[in-house]
Amino acid sequence: MLEERIRHAALRSRVMLADEAQRYIQNGMNVGVSGFTKCGDVKAIPKALARRAQRSGEAFKINLFTGASLGEAESILAKANLIDRRMPYQGDPTLRAGINKGDVRYVDQHLSHMAEWVRGGILDIDIAVIEATAITENGGIVPTTSVGNSATFVQRARQVIVELNLSVPTSFEGLHDIYLPKDRPYRSWIPIQTVSDRIGTPYIPCDPEKIVAIVVNDEPDSDSKIQSADGDTQRMAEYILEFFDWEVRQGRLPDNLLPLQSGVGSVSNAVLSGLKRSRFENLNIYTEVMQDAVFELFEAGKVNYASASSFALSEKMSRHVLSSIDSYRDKMVLRPQEISNHPEVVRRLGVIAMNTALEVDLYGNVNSTHVTGSKMMNGIGGSGDFARNAALTIFVTKSVAKDGRISSVVPFVSHVDHTEHDVDVLVTEQGIADLRGLAPRERARMIIEKLVHPDYKDALLDYYTRAARRGGHTPHLMEEALSWHARLEQVGDMRKTRGLVRVQ
Ligand code: COA
Repeated sequence: MLEERIRHAALRSRVMLADEAQRYIQNGMNVGVSGFTKCGDVKAIPKALARRAQRSGEAFKINLFTGASLGEAESILAKANLIDRRMPYQGDPTLRAGINKGDVRYVDQHLSHMAEWVRGGILDIDIAVIEATAITENGGIVPTTSVGNSATFVQRARQVIVELNLSVPTSFEGLHDIYLPKDRPYRSWIPIQTVSDRIGTPYIPCDPEKIVAIVVNDEPDSDSKIQSADGDTQRMAEYILEFFDWEVRQGRLPDNLLPLQSGVGSVSNAVLSGLKRSRFENLNIYTEVMQDAVFELFEAGKVNYASASSFALSEKMSRHVLSSIDSYRDKMVLRPQEISNHPEVVRRLGVIAMNTALEVDLYGNVNSTHVTGSKMMNGIGGSGDFARNAALTIFVTKSVAKDGRISSVVPFVSHVDHTEHDVDVLVTEQGIADLRGLAPRERARMIIEKLVHPDYKDALLDYYTRAARRGGHTPHLMEEALSWHARLEQVGDMRKTRGLVRVQ
């Protein structure tokens, strides 16, 4: 078994237990690990680090750099209080609490940018810990269910620990396409012209001397809990599909649409699921993460090809994918996140980007990350990589949150992740607003008319009317712009007007 999985004979002598291998990780080190949306993350070493902390009482912390969110590993490290600095996207409740208390120094970076910082020496990687399906004859590391930033971590790290995961079939080899841009000023264009173009190697090149330990493991990925579509998400999906239909009839989109990107979340999943029943065929996917719905579309014969950096699958779908990966191998590719999210490629292919907002404002600015301006939710992920560069940028959100106590359409967003300049279309369960080509005052009127929940419509219209009377290109009342959030903090409900400073 190990001969098949570790084809570089000399490296077989470096197989050891996780408790031994973790000793290479020291207090204060920058540790770059594999893992993206709970897939292909390292599993044994984080547990061994937590055991070390518990056994020895040693006070040590690491700076944890990843592709995106990890599964159980993240939770274990956060609970053991072992993370000092963390970057980029995360999604674990314990870690989130640490970030919002100010105990964890979290840096919310665009997913495609992080590799540039590593390569540019802004972030130094001491050690990389990478989950692998196999190690090739020349020491190359074959990733598992995600690629993320692993290739850049391996390239720059002084030492590498490999976690060989036997639960991933060897037939995963060939699924990945590893290409890293050259350092500047020698960088050339990224030669991807269609979603299926393969431009690199099927493994992460690695100097075998760097591999100091190999840990064998058979733990599966943590599953992703994807909420099934409810009436609201279903409606949003229908608006988007009708909109696509309209755009095709106007000759602005081809019959099979443009390559689709969809962020993690129930609406994105519902839109992709809705495509199963639509008239659209021969779809292509150019995204960072493939959720269950992508495989459902494959099963329905709707997709030609899918390119991503990772999976994010329910337990059931994960079992299906692992057991039938051979049938998908000529239909999909997993790339480094720097490439799956690369502005140049996203712009060239003309991707349709669909991501979720926490809140949007009168003019189309989007907040995807911060609750009431201060509390981090998950991070910007790849939404910014796609939003700025896509041919069509769509953000979705339910019009209210927390049983109606929060309006997701507000006078002014409390944190800006995507500016109005990057947002083409907004969707709530109330309707869809195509903002392209509209001046700010037109945008505001359309957003109020189409997107706002009835409980908040009069209040937002009132705000806009008084602001417009005061004048300006993008009218606002500075004294009131964030008063809805202030009200939420003070009385727990944006609908309550008590305490509102009203400007005439
Ligand atoms: N104010 C406060 N809380 C809000 C809110 C608002 N305006 N809108 C939604 N929420 C809360 C919901 O109530 C829910 O809370 P809960 O976890 O306590 O139930 C939570 O935020 C998640 O909202 P939900 O409606 O379930 O949507 P989601 O699971 O699709 O997540 C984001 C929405 C924005 C958090 C998520 O999409 C995200 O992290 N996006 C940024 C990264 C990204 O876009 N990546 C794309 C490429 S993968």
